Amino acid sequence: MSVHTIILAAGQGSRMKSNKAKVLQRIGGASMLEKICYTAGAVSSDITLVVGFDKESVLDEATKFNLNITSSLQPKPIGTGDAVRCGLDKVQNDSKVLVLYGDVPLIKKETLQNLIDSSNSGLSILTTVLDKPFGYGRVKTNSNNEALEIVEEKDATDEERQIQEIFTGVLCGSKALIEEGLSRITNNNAAGEFYLTDLVSIINEKGIRINTYKASNEEVKGANSKQELEQLEATYRAMQAEDLFEKGITISDASRLDVRGSVECGKDCSIDVNVILEGNIVLGDNVSIGPNCIIKNANIGSNTKIEAFSHIDGAKIADNCVIGPYARLREGSQIESSAKVGNFVETKNSTLGKGSKANHFTYLGDTIIGEGTNVGAGTITCNYDGKDKHKTSIGNNSFIGSNTSLVAPVTVGSNTTIAAGSVITKDIPDNALGFGRAKQENKENWSKKKD
Ligand code: UD1
Ligand code: CA
Repeated sequence: MSVHTIILAAGQGSRMKSNKAKVLQRIGGASMLEKICYTAGAVSSDITLVVGFDKESVLDEATKFNLNITSSLQPKPIGTGDAVRCGLDKVQNDSKVLVLYGDVPLIKKETLQNLIDSSNSGLSILTTVLDKPFGYGRVKTNSNNEALEIVEEKDATDEERQIQEIFTGVLCGSKALIEEGLSRITNNNAAGEFYLTDLVSIINEKGIRINTYKASNEEVKGANSKQELEQLEATYRAMQAEDLFEKGITISDASRLDVRGSVECGKDCSIDVNVILEGNIVLGDNVSIGPNCIIKNANIGSNTKIEAFSHIDGAKIADNCVIGPYARLREGSQIESSAKVGNFVETKNSTLGKGSKANHFTYLGDTIIGEGTNVGAGTITCNYDGKDKHKTSIGNNSFIGSNTSLVAPVTVGSNTTIAAGSVITKDIPDNALGFGRAKQENKENWSKKKD
């Protein structure tokens, strides 16, 4: 049986005190919507978003995902049961329906797959047991752990509020069963809403058993307010760190590492405090990342050290390099083996060859540098003429004196030396000295005589 996921994303989330739809609030560098949609995509063939409040922004966000998503409009946010009813139009009659709430974004695909498998042709609901179940729907079960009824916080008696097993917002069942059940829900409750959760007692009364499947507390946390969003971020952070520990990375403090993408790594890598990893990161063996680094979409070779406060985005760094402290490697930077990029050095769309060094206060833009070249402190490639970008090329084993400006387009050969303080506007052939500054002249006995 194919599985069709309906994701509820029509609510405003008034407790967020935001102009945006709740599902556009962000967790781990992505919207909650993005997280939940990709998880849904991993376990189901079709996805329908139920939208309402701020629907243009929600649908606009969804078009960015590489997934096949349809949408249904819920004209008014009159309850989760009504929202699912709106989404059912898009589901084929012989499908299973998986319902997810857009504000419960950390659910794992393995958990969903188990829930789907346990639902057979009936209904399964995902639950968890919380020490503090306040605010959630409480699940009443029989001795076989089958669900009998879900009671919402607002409608619960004091005794029912003691129940610690809660509904996570996730359920799976056949379309026919869910559709039939939802045709019978009313809004006769404390909130005056059509609750999805009433489905449980309705189906139970028909004598059909409802499985409960328990998830871990972490993955089913919801975010209804900015404080809960922060708590969800902390949960996400801990989950990501757990994955990295599993891969063998040494982390100085898991609460001070944010992984907002995917990380692949070899053995013996270490990450110091206050590091953010985004996009796709690939680390070789024995890579160390110092404190306060931000690294996005980077490939870092074995034995390379990224020193404190470095900022790397879209760079490829080979083995045995030292980057930073305070380096900024931008899009298209390629640092070859044993090269060094030091403090306050910015590179963009540039290659620094094997064993070459740019250790202090330098900008390399649209530049190719060969092997064994030393770029002195304060060297600037002037790659932009106010209109177009131009290239600088420097050969092997050259020495660029401090405070040199290389006015692109310009080619500097191999084994060259550039005198410190030069403004280089013409190509320099191999083995030459380039000298591009006014010669110093001393006027002897020039000082004014004192009276
Ligand atoms: C809901 C459940 C509760 C469960 C909890 C888990 C109901 C009645 N209650 O409560 O049992 O423990 O989630 O997190 O389902 N939405 C719509 N249209 C609507 C109303 C809501 O699309 O008319 C969407 C919201 O945008 C949100 C999701 O459904 O993404 C859940 O709605 P919310 O109001 O947050 O439900 P809870 O009070 O958290
Ligand atoms: Ca909620």
